[in-house]
Order: sequence, then C-alpha cells, then structure tokens
Amino acid sequence: MCGIVAYIGHREAYPILIKGLKRLEYRGYDSAGVALLNGDLNIYKKKGKVADLEDAVKGKDVKGSLGMGHTRWATHGEPNDVNSHPHLSQNGDIAIIHNGIIENYATLKEALIERGHSFLSDTDTEVLAHLIEDIQKNTGAPLEESVRLALNEVVGAYAIVIISKNDPTKLIGARKGSPLVVGLGDGEYFMASDATPIIEYTKNVTYLNDNEIAFIKEGKLSVKTIDNVEKTPYIQTLELNLEAIEKGGYEHFMLKEIHEQPRSIYDSIRGRFDPTLGSFAMRSLKEYEGKIKNLKRIIIVGCGTSWHAGLVGEYLFEDIARIPVEVEYASEFRYRNPVINEDDLVIAISQSGETADTLAAIELAKEKGATIFGLCNVVGSSIPRASHAGAYTHAGPEIGVASTKAFTAQVAVLTLWAFGFAELRGKATKNDLRNAFAELESIPQKVEKTLKCEEQIIELAKIFKNSHNFLYLGRGYGFPVALEGALKLKEISYIHAEGYPAAEMKHGPIALIDAEMPVVVIATKNDIYEKVISNIQEVKARKGKIIAVVTEGDDKVKKMADYCIEIPETKEYLEPLIATIPLQLLSYHIAVLRGCNVDQPRNLAKSVTVE
Ligand code: AGP
Repeated sequence: MCGIVAYIGHREAYPILIKGLKRLEYRGYDSAGVALLNGDLNIYKKKGKVADLEDAVKGKDVKGSLGMGHTRWATHGEPNDVNSHPHLSQNGDIAIIHNGIIENYATLKEALIERGHSFLSDTDTEVLAHLIEDIQKNTGAPLEESVRLALNEVVGAYAIVIISKNDPTKLIGARKGSPLVVGLGDGEYFMASDATPIIEYTKNVTYLNDNEIAFIKEGKLSVKTIDNVEKTPYIQTLELNLEAIEKGGYEHFMLKEIHEQPRSIYDSIRGRFDPTLGSFAMRSLKEYEGKIKNLKRIIIVGCGTSWHAGLVGEYLFEDIARIPVEVEYASEFRYRNPVINEDDLVIAISQSGETADTLAAIELAKEKGATIFGLCNVVGSSIPRASHAGAYTHAGPEIGVASTKAFTAQVAVLTLWAFGFAELRGKATKNDLRNAFAELESIPQKVEKTLKCEEQIIELAKIFKNSHNFLYLGRGYGFPVALEGALKLKEISYIHAEGYPAAEMKHGPIALIDAEMPVVVIATKNDIYEKVISNIQEVKARKGKIIAVVTEGDDKVKKMADYCIEIPETKEYLEPLIATIPLQLLSYHIAVLRGCNVDQPRNLAKSVTVE
C-alpha cells in the first residue's frame, strides 16, 4: 500500500532511491516518483512502474545526497502523473511522500483554499504539504515543529517523509498506522516502509511507533511524539539478508517463494517442539498457559489468504484441542459490534503484520478485554507489536503479491498451537503429540516431493489457460485449501474462480457446470473421501472437467477424474500443507501462460494498510 524510501548522507541519493523503490514495488505500482535536493528541489514522477520513471528521468539532473522516493497504490485520485508522489506545498519548497489515507483532507483542503491555496492534484497527500507550509508561514516555526503541528490536525493513517528546499540538512518522517523504519548508517540515514531498501547499507534500524516523528537534523537522529514528548529510539540489528529479497535465479518471486516452502515450513516449526518428548516449546506463550487452559473461545481474524489459514486453524483447534472457534474477516468483525469476552483469545493472522483491518480488529478486541496472539511474518511490524503475545512465521520475506509460503507457514504454526493447547487442556496426550510432531517433521520433505509435480502442472496449465471460470471444491480440511486455490488463480491470472465446500455445490454452483468448466477437487484419502467421490460424480454427470488432487496410489478417483495430481499421504489435519502446493503452481503457470504480471497483479498491493 505505497512504498516510501528516503536518504540523507554522503552518497548520491538517486541510485539508492531507485533500488529501494524496486524492492518496495510490491506495495503498489500505479506510479512512482522521486524528489532530490541539490540546491534546487527536483521532482520527477510518472504513472506506471519504477522502470517507467527511470526511462522518464534519463538525461535529467538526478544529483543530490538528500532525496526520497515513492511507489503508489492509488487511493485518492486516479493513477496519473499529477497524482503521483512526491507532492509539493503551495510555494514548491516543501515536498512530501505519503503512505496511508488522510481522512479529513477535504475539510483541511477547503480551509486552505479559503486561505488562498490552490491544488494541482486530487490527492489527500498534497493537502498535508500545503498545511505544513501554511503553519510554517503563520507561526514562523521551524520545519520540524510545523510538521508536528500539522500532524495534530490530521485524522487518518500515514507514514510520511518530508524534505524542504530551505532545510537541506533535514529529513523528517512520521508514522501513524502505516509502517516507517529508520536505518542508521555511518554518517547517513535511511527511511523506508520496510527494511528491504536499507539492509544493503546498514542493519541498524529503529521502527517508529504510532504518533512518532523522526527528525534527522545535521547528522543526528531524534524522535518525539506528536504531543512533543522526546523518545529514545530503540535501535535493533536486523537479521535479514540481501539474498532473501532477491529472485535467486527464479523468473518470479512467486515461483521462488513456492519452491521455498520446504524450508519456510521447517523454519517456522524448528525449535518449537520436541517430537521425541512430545513437548511443545513456544516460549512466547508460556506466561499465557493459564489463560489457554481456561479460555472459552478462540476468535481468529485476518484477511485474504491469512483468513484462509485462519479457517484451517478453526478445523485444527476444534478437532484437536476441542475449543470453539470463530473465524472472522477482520474488515467485518471491526464494524459489527461483536460480542467479545475476557475469556476469549483472539488470534490475528497476517503476513505483513500491517493490514489495517486486522489491526483495527485487534484494537477493538483489546478494548473489550480479550487476549491477543499475533501470528505474523514481518518482524517488528505493527500487529505483533499490538498483540499481547504470539509467534513469527519465519517464512522469510514474501515479495510476490500472491501469498504462498506465508500461508503454509501460518498453517504449520497453527498446527503446533492446536496440539500445544490440546495438551494444556488435557485433550491430547504426550503420545498424541509425539505422533503428530513426528509427522509434522516429515512435511518439508513431503512438500519437496509434491513440488515435483510441476511439469505435470505446466501441461495442465496449457490445457486450461483459456478457461473463463474455475470451480475449486473441498471438504473438511480441503475446503480452506479450495478457497485458497481459487483466490490464487483469480488474483494472478484474472480468471474467475470460486472455492466451495464440495457438498454445497448442489445448492447452487452446480448450475454453472458444463463441459467448459474445470473443477479442481481436493480428493485426498481421509474420513470424507467417499463423500467427495460422490461430489466428483455429480460434476462428471454434468460433463465438468475434473482436476483432482489425490493421495499417492489412489485408484478410485483416478478412474473418474480427467486429470489427477498425486500428493504424499499424511495425516488429514496436515493435508492443507501439501495439497495447497499444486494449486499454487497451477495458478502460477496459468498466469505466466496468459502473460500476466505474476508478482505484481493489477489493482493489488502486498500490504493493505488502508481500509
Ligand atoms: C493473498 O494472496 C493476497 N494478496 C491477500 O489476500 C492477503 O493475504 C491479504 O491482503 C492479507 O494480508 P496480510 O496477510 O499481510 O494481512
């Protein structure tokens, strides 16, 4: 949801900004722009990708060791050159980039127009640049104080960076609701939406908290709140390495991330259980053991793929730990006055840890006294910081907009939690845990084996790449997998796809089935295998084309299905970790064959930090 990067120091800023913007492009790619200060304040911005900006800038003056860049996911105003960031104040001296939404921008704009301001763009961001200038003019306050005063008038979410032609030694950033990290190098500073543009230069960073402003002035960093309280920045050393954020020989990040799953699942469970002892060692939850023993209900909140992982969580916690679970879209939960009690545990799932709806759901549940566990991938992001406890999914940076390895990592940790909770509540014995953990340990190899179906999937992709619709069916643990498969296909290939509980098909979607309809069915050998077979027959009777995901060695479904993809056998509750893989590959290869931009699908952004 917009990426921002800024630099002040002894190097040329432009190459750092462009490289940083490319790393942040997953956050939005409607337009890109840079501002560079070198005596003059030069702004270059362009609708489209960072590469389009680079073309537009060729031959121009890109000198300056103070600058900032922005890659946009449009909220206010259509994606065009004018609405691109950076935006300037009325006299053109102050430049701003922004990630978020200023909700009261219309009121602020009206007041500024009355005071003689005129605006070039339709954006909320430009209003903030004008407001800062207006305050500076009327109060005579320095830039940093004017920014602070302006932020006190703003309602909404933001991460902003500001530079001014009149203050060539100052770089100012602030956050509320949208992430901003400050990198501290040797005589140089960086600001960015995440650490990826920074790690090449320094591993020392500080994440701003909500309502904090970072001022870099004459080579020194200071932080204060918008209420003018000085803060001591907490400097941490990042473990992230450069390799993890590069494609490593793969054509797309998504493909790399699909293939990373044996490792990312392993990393997400490693050290958290002992299969020999059957013990569960999630240290971060230790102090909540009493709470877990007595909780009456779990509410899982998330969006998109994380919500699908939450659905798998529902099956796991109910099946294994016998705890009632509700899974809620965070965006609905936050506005429907939900009944939440102090005995409830809310699990917030998010890859980015920044999804605005999920964060808002957490705040609501916290207000009502619930305990919050965050399950997130991005270290230091907002959701883990807003949670009481939780765990990281160690999947490594996920850069493809379509979530893949984050999903399986989330499901792996939820599986551990379900068994850990079950033991605490007397619903599982040490022996149950030993068996479950031994099988969980074998999942990375089974995923590795499943990935070998890629050649077969490419052939299937060739057959179905021109389909207009797809249906995905599953039952039990296969249902969330079907939903996730359908989401993956629609978001990257733009083919309409629906995920359904297989038995629900006869209540409506069956009307869609004809010889043109590919139906992907999760038909693994488990307790509801026979029931799924009946559903396959219902599809076949209407001439639908069945692509079945089956357990290795299956012969029954093979006789009925048009195409079968075999996956290794495992326990039913672990099947989502394996059955998801062929569906990810299918959507990836269909999208590639259709010529779609797999890593940056149209209209989407990786981290949705606005409502
Ligand atoms: C998944 O492929 C999506 N791009 C999207 O649905 C995503 O899962 C959703 O926006 C939630 O993001 P989060 O996990 O970062 O909170």
